[in-house]
Amino acid sequence: MTRRSYRGSLSALQNDPIRILKAEHNISLLRLDAIERSLQFLESLPRSGVREDSTDEQTHLRDCLISLQHLLELHFLKEEEALFPVLAEYIGRAGGPIDAVVDEHTRIRSALGDLRQKVTDLCEYQGGERTAILSGVTGLAYKTTGLLRLHICKENQILFEIGEDLLSTEEKRKIAIKIKTM
Ligand SMILES: [Fe+2]
Ligand SMILES: [Fe+2]
Repeated sequence: MTRRSYRGSLSALQNDPIRILKAEHNISLLRLDAIERSLQFLESLPRSGVREDSTDEQTHLRDCLISLQHLLELHFLKEEEALFPVLAEYIGRAGGPIDAVVDEHTRIRSALGDLRQKVTDLCEYQGGERTAILSGVTGLAYKTTGLLRLHICKENQILFEIGEDLLSTEEKRKIAIKIKTM
């Protein structure tokens, strides 16, 4: 790729809100992979006794989760305050895909908050027997990662496709400017 074509593709990315938001989806999916790997590792360890590798992994899990939560707080805001209002002018809101994904944002925010509390409890747990507390974490964690994967898939395949078809270049440029100030 030449320097000029690189600059051209970078500028196209920066002026296209759908591509910006899809790139954030890809980062979120990498974080979900890391969280699921961490859960699998914790599940593979003996459940009793305090082990250094489980303590380190629990801290890693908590850090991945906090990083995902921060990323999504801003990502959801960009969708709700910059993209969806313009898209709603074309397709409306009530009972349609925009309302559906905003409802999912509420459920995902709440699930991530509950999960963060459970992972914090796990990190602070000093007892020797971790079975019950770890099962509570993994049960909610897999439910949350599944919910988020489905949400991203729905946006990529339905809502963002609608946006690609309906939004003008000028509308995309204005949405991208708003996103970059958030
Ligand atoms: Fe979303
Ligand atoms: Fe999204």
